Amino acid sequence: MNAKNASAERAAGADVPRVDGRLKVTGAARYGSDVKVDKPAYAYLRTSAIARGRIARIDEGAARDVPGLLDILTYENVGERVGPGDFFASGGYFSSTMRPLSSPEVRHAGQIVAMTVAESFEAAREAAQRLEISYDEEQPAAGFDAACAETEPVADAMSSHQDPAVGDAQEAFEASPVTLDARYETPTQHHNPIELFTTTCAWDGDQLTIWEPSQNVYGVKHGIAQQLQMDPEDIRVVSRYVGGAFGSRGSLTQRTALVALAAKRLQRPVKLAVSRAQGFTIATYRAETRHHVRLGADRDGRLRALMHEGWEVTSRPDPYNVSGTEVTTRLYNCPNVWSRVSITHADRNTPGFMRSPPEVPYLFALESAMDELAVELGMDPVELRRVNDSNKEPIGGLPWTSRALMPCFDAAAAAFGWQNRDPQPGAMRDGDWDLGWGCAATMYPTVIAPAAVRVTVTPEGKVQVGSAAHDIGTGAYTVAALTAAELLGVPVEDVTVELGDTALPAGPIAGGSNTTASLCNAIAQACGKIGRRLAEAAVTADGPFAGMKAADLTLTDGRLHGPGGHSEPLREVLRRTGEGGITIETENLPDGVKPEGLQQLHRGLPAFTGGTERSDRVQAAFGAIMVEVRVHRQTREIRCPRAVGAFAAGRIISQRTAESQLIGGLIWGISAALHEATEIDRRTARYGSTDLAEYLIPVNADIGDIQAITLREEDYEINPLGIKGLGELGNVGTNAAVANAVYHATGIRIRQLPIRIENLLAG
Ligand code: MOS
Repeated sequence: MNAKNASAERAAGADVPRVDGRLKVTGAARYGSDVKVDKPAYAYLRTSAIARGRIARIDEGAARDVPGLLDILTYENVGERVGPGDFFASGGYFSSTMRPLSSPEVRHAGQIVAMTVAESFEAAREAAQRLEISYDEEQPAAGFDAACAETEPVADAMSSHQDPAVGDAQEAFEASPVTLDARYETPTQHHNPIELFTTTCAWDGDQLTIWEPSQNVYGVKHGIAQQLQMDPEDIRVVSRYVGGAFGSRGSLTQRTALVALAAKRLQRPVKLAVSRAQGFTIATYRAETRHHVRLGADRDGRLRALMHEGWEVTSRPDPYNVSGTEVTTRLYNCPNVWSRVSITHADRNTPGFMRSPPEVPYLFALESAMDELAVELGMDPVELRRVNDSNKEPIGGLPWTSRALMPCFDAAAAAFGWQNRDPQPGAMRDGDWDLGWGCAATMYPTVIAPAAVRVTVTPEGKVQVGSAAHDIGTGAYTVAALTAAELLGVPVEDVTVELGDTALPAGPIAGGSNTTASLCNAIAQACGKIGRRLAEAAVTADGPFAGMKAADLTLTDGRLHGPGGHSEPLREVLRRTGEGGITIETENLPDGVKPEGLQQLHRGLPAFTGGTERSDRVQAAFGAIMVEVRVHRQTREIRCPRAVGAFAAGRIISQRTAESQLIGGLIWGISAALHEATEIDRRTARYGSTDLAEYLIPVNADIGDIQAITLREEDYEINPLGIKGLGELGNVGTNAAVANAVYHATGIRIRQLPIRIENLLAG
């Protein structure tokens, strides 16, 4: 049996529809808060009006009068009943170390200050709103430049941090014949998944079941065990379908333990649905960033110096940072590189992962700067990338396992018609509109994590796959089904997949675009074992292939094939060998992950390897993005009628869901460039656009033609199936491509996102 060859010969799931598509469009897919529990009580959060200070007094009188009120949780009755949990960036589970109901202290606006529980959602909300809470308020720091904010280099805050550098960048920059020195900014953004943050908890004696949308069910299990001092084996976490996550559900918020505690106090199930506005402050977000980029080049465009300094905002206690210089210092060949990242501690909720956390803001800066350098040099921006392309990264001199950056630029250029671009800004017009064509590179590190999986072949020849990995809307159910179908040679309709439940073998956190590689390689390992077992049984004396060699048998099309052309249906082989069904439970420990990675997997802790972290190689998916913008000559309205992305991300398991991810990424990149920002009141450190009317995201009318091209790429060094992962690849760089296109249309360089009409009026 050679599972890898069998799969490689078959086409990728070229046009197989999303296997959970029907369940989703018919409403049969059950999301966290859809769960039916017996006589639920309903919880509602009250969040703080101030960003910094202390609760002076809570008057519960009016709230207690609400009919149906059952309980009010405040710091006075929670305190140490919900214990501390470690910060995820320090090896823990929690999005923040701030513990809202442990004391009267208020550390950010919108912090949880009370939770009411009642017979109905409306009564709980009414009671929460009737709580009279007075505060002793202090002046908060809203972010950068605030008087009482504190800024420190990440290297001082976290001993494990190293700023990538090589050579003498300062000297090389000063000696370069052509230089570019510019500063860029990106705004605060919030994930705003359409499914709200919800939690339902039910106790059965000492056993707790939690339903909530999650990217890490094992993490929730162990994190809540830590906070409530429970045996993790008494906790089950279920998250079968997730209505958007984007990183917001990778770490635990403080709400979950509060709902569990409320359910315990009342001895009945409790359901919480957090409001859209409260979701901005009880969970995480992408914090605002600043960048100083200096590039020095020879006249032919070859980079001699690259310096990237970044600044990020975080909360008072937690040193969250994304440090995208890991990527920007490695994308292009350059002998002299320097970088540094600093964080500013402000009175804000702690930021967290948000779709391509480091790459989106940091590549906006680098890919804008590369465009500016191309203008300085009088060079085509694609050609500037070409002269700085390399099969090694410059910091450690490590080889890329594969790198199709320039083939992606060439494919995008051909599809876009880039050769028709007039380089002169403002030269391309269509009536009252100035046309601009811009491009940028994208790159996303390729990682893989350990995963456990159970694969069963039933006596009828049907296949069941189970793992507590997650489908956060990305297509994990589909890629798991396609992989098992291909490797066991059965139709995809005969495969059922279960994910998102700690009753299943441990799956990795859905983060860093690792799920397809981690899950499918684990499935391949299990399927390989099943195939060997079937083949060995089939060649025994009573088997249908008696006397043959097991190694000569192959499984395809639902049949076991022998070398002489004879084949038997899988079901028949199972019957004849008396195996009944076969179940294999296996743990995949990918090459490069230390053995303790398996313990980390079972404890819900990330154990990724790859990306820029290995000592022998670097591995990433690459792509090129080209966009057209139109800027109206009088009104300065900015439209983005078309975008093309070409991507090389290793083997594509499911063409449809891959393209869907990439198209979504391109749309999100356009959104980041032209729409999205959370407004912050600098005096109160409060967010001011906490609903989908004021937090702008594109609607259909904002998006024109979007084309996502995937290049064929074979890289079996990264993992046996050659999967790179692409969930986060599509939106990286798109923001810069739009900004570069706006420059090309108008001659105005905008270095701060989002780009708005008023930015272009001065021109
Ligand atoms: Mo993704 S932002 O790594 O969940």
